[in-house]
Amino acid sequence: MSFGVALFLRSPEPIPKTLNWRSYSPSPNRRLQISPVYVSYSTLPFAKDRASGAGDVRRMLEDFDPTIPLPEALTPPSSWYTDPSFFALEFERVFFRGWQVVGYIEQVKSPNDFFTGRLGNVEFVVCRDASGELYAFHNVCRHHASILASGSGQRSCFECPYHGWTYGLDGQLLRATRITGIKNFNKNDFGLLPLNVASWGPFVLINVDKNMPIKQKVSSDVVGNDWLGSASQILSANGIDTSLEYVCRRKYTIECNWKVFCDNYLDGGYHVVYAHGGLSSGLKLDSYTTRIYEKVSIQSCESAPAESNDLDRLGSKALYAFVYPNFMINRYGPWMDTNLALPLGPNKCQVIFDYFLDSSMLNDEEFIERSLKESETVQMEDVTLCEGVQKGLESPAYCSGRYAPSIEMAMHHFHCLHHACLRDE
Ligand code: FES
Repeated sequence: MSFGVALFLRSPEPIPKTLNWRSYSPSPNRRLQISPVYVSYSTLPFAKDRASGAGDVRRMLEDFDPTIPLPEALTPPSSWYTDPSFFALEFERVFFRGWQVVGYIEQVKSPNDFFTGRLGNVEFVVCRDASGELYAFHNVCRHHASILASGSGQRSCFECPYHGWTYGLDGQLLRATRITGIKNFNKNDFGLLPLNVASWGPFVLINVDKNMPIKQKVSSDVVGNDWLGSASQILSANGIDTSLEYVCRRKYTIECNWKVFCDNYLDGGYHVVYAHGGLSSGLKLDSYTTRIYEKVSIQSCESAPAESNDLDRLGSKALYAFVYPNFMINRYGPWMDTNLALPLGPNKCQVIFDYFLDSSMLNDEEFIERSLKESETVQMEDVTLCEGVQKGLESPAYCSGRYAPSIEMAMHHFHCLHHACLRDE
């Protein structure tokens, strides 16, 4: 969690302090009956007993009941965080459907800019051609499947490192080397396979859904609506826009399921006082509020007054937006940082932090260095927490836990949403 700083650069739209549960309010007839009973070790409903990990994803889904009200609800079973079959289902029904953030507009600002990445087994390249058009393709050569481009930078074309087939930035096959004598071959049939691509604010998104027709241009309004729903305007009004300058990227490979990192982000600041001693003194944790939207939750918190006259990286108020399934936007003071939690395996993820700063601060190297160092300290503390949780989830001692109802509502919303998306046939 990147608890940040505070002064918004523009007057923020007030974030309602009340939480509207109606959008996913459970039906009352499926409530847990909770009574104070003593149980022996042998009667505990271990996750490993309830869902064997043998691919019974339906049973794993049934082990979480989103209709139970938050004060009575159990958290998802540990199999959600450990089972390879469940992990595969998440790609099929979540990451390979809908818009996913893959980068930021600064990376493809100029003609011939490109960057590459990977989402599950989808290798992709995003690029802007000489005329300024934005494209995304499967980053796979049509000859013998070599990965075509690597890293990021500028290219006028993509030449395959294997046998030299060359593609334009619009995806067309420009040159197929040494194919004299080939029959029934039309270069136009062997262009790069396109992906839907769009931008919203500073972010670039792709949609790898095979059932979605490839569109030449998708407007940011359409993407904003699909991706952020009614939270789109609130985020725009609170300084999530293109006015900030990109500063740097940090990557953390964490030995935990990607949802462990998200859960840690979504606990309403619960862990801050216990796990982030340095940070907690800079925040007024009793000012924490949470607001839930369709696929977005927004947590906000005021900062404690700075003790010195040094510029405070947190400013006066911070906003932490979680965009389902795996993208987090933190806006505080002159800073914005984003956290993209990429699933690498059932018990491994990579979290990519990108930092953006108000242009007026770009020359203040001491401030930037100090801010990044403070942020890094918090991240390393979170890495330790998340890896500890993963070990606990994999142990036979744990099945499901409980929510702290007054603060972990965003986490519950995440789990309910995930359940709904995974069940969607
Ligand atoms: S695999 Fe790309 S040219 Fe052969």
